[in-house]
Amino acid sequence: MEFQKSDVLKKLPEQFFASLVQKVQKKIHEGADVINLGQGNPDQPTPQHIVQAMQLAVEKPENHQYSSFRGTAQFKKAAAAFYEREYGVTLDPECEIAILFGGKAGLVELPQCLLNPGDTLLVPDPGYPDYWSGAVLAGADMITMPLLEKNDFLPDYDQLSDDHKNKAKLMYLNYPNNPTGATATRAFFEDTIRMAKDHDICVVHDFAYGGIGFDGEKPISFLQIDGAKDTGIEIYTLSKTYNMAGWRVGFAVGNRSVIEAIELYQDHLFVSLFKATQDAASEALLADQTCVQVQNERYENRRNVWIAACKEIGWDVRAPKGSFFAWLKVPEGYTAESFSDLLLEKAHVVVAPGNGFGTHGEGYVRVGLLTSEKRLKEAAKRIAALGLFEKKPLTT
Ligand SMILES: Cc1ncc(COP(=O)(O)O)c(C=O)c1O
Repeated sequence: MEFQKSDVLKKLPEQFFASLVQKVQKKIHEGADVINLGQGNPDQPTPQHIVQAMQLAVEKPENHQYSSFRGTAQFKKAAAAFYEREYGVTLDPECEIAILFGGKAGLVELPQCLLNPGDTLLVPDPGYPDYWSGAVLAGADMITMPLLEKNDFLPDYDQLSDDHKNKAKLMYLNYPNNPTGATATRAFFEDTIRMAKDHDICVVHDFAYGGIGFDGEKPISFLQIDGAKDTGIEIYTLSKTYNMAGWRVGFAVGNRSVIEAIELYQDHLFVSLFKATQDAASEALLADQTCVQVQNERYENRRNVWIAACKEIGWDVRAPKGSFFAWLKVPEGYTAESFSDLLLEKAHVVVAPGNGFGTHGEGYVRVGLLTSEKRLKEAAKRIAALGLFEKKPLTT
């Protein structure tokens, strides 16, 4: 027998990048030496002290039992201590923190926690595609906020109609930004809080790349701004800061009514994370943070190498300020997809076509700085050999 999927599943957006993965696999099977800059999977292992904390935690019989529904007090206290130390933000671990199975789970379930079918969610365009999945699962309508280069890839609230602002109940933001590599300013977050308060919108700041900022600028947390807790929450994940993408661990912090809604929803789905994972995650948040610093330097060095190499081959690019992505304009005569296909076919270099992140991603490709400096230089050399860019003397 074959059973039909529910209507809501049928409405889920296609996984745009699945077809890219297939094309890449085909090339690799053909024996090509593919440089994959298309994905967002950290290439370094989880730091050893965190792995060791997990090994110890796995041995403890008490960790083999169910966790309490809403997770361990110890992990919530660690998350609170982390926010206090890193951002000077005070959180009540009992009612201002919810543990998540990674940021993605939180972002996708949130619309179901706060919206009714037909309610409206504001999302950035380009943006992380899982925001759309959350909207579909909740039966919510989506209004996109264009992120334009001329506005430093921040949404311009003046361009949103009053009707849209009044309709919206929830809004997603993400800085440092995937895919553009842009960062937020305090002024922008202040503006966001004003607009959200005026229109009763709950702000969800996705801080997945909070641990990765360049040029001596530490990315700011939304909760550092006065009034933020009143207006929304922030979602933090250990995936990028501590190279723990496979561990599936994150947390939401901020407005207690939103945290309570997440906790209630999750009470019915999970019995929180494996307690050993929560112990190891606490170790990550509380231990010496040299590993984060070292990794940040690694990404910054890669960014510098990549941007210098692009400029050298004549590709006019803008350096990202945070995250591990660079967002690059495609040369004239190409679309995001035709250009990425060409790079894969002729240079065996994989980049993510920008239109996979929304309409305003057309004309761009996203490069993940998730391989060595040597391979990044090699990728630029292969792209240069296609003769698409006019070579200019190196200025930086
Ligand atoms: C913008 C953004 N948000 C959230 C996530 C989710 O991260 P995780 O589910 O690993 O915590 C990612 C992962 O790639 C991301 O790029």
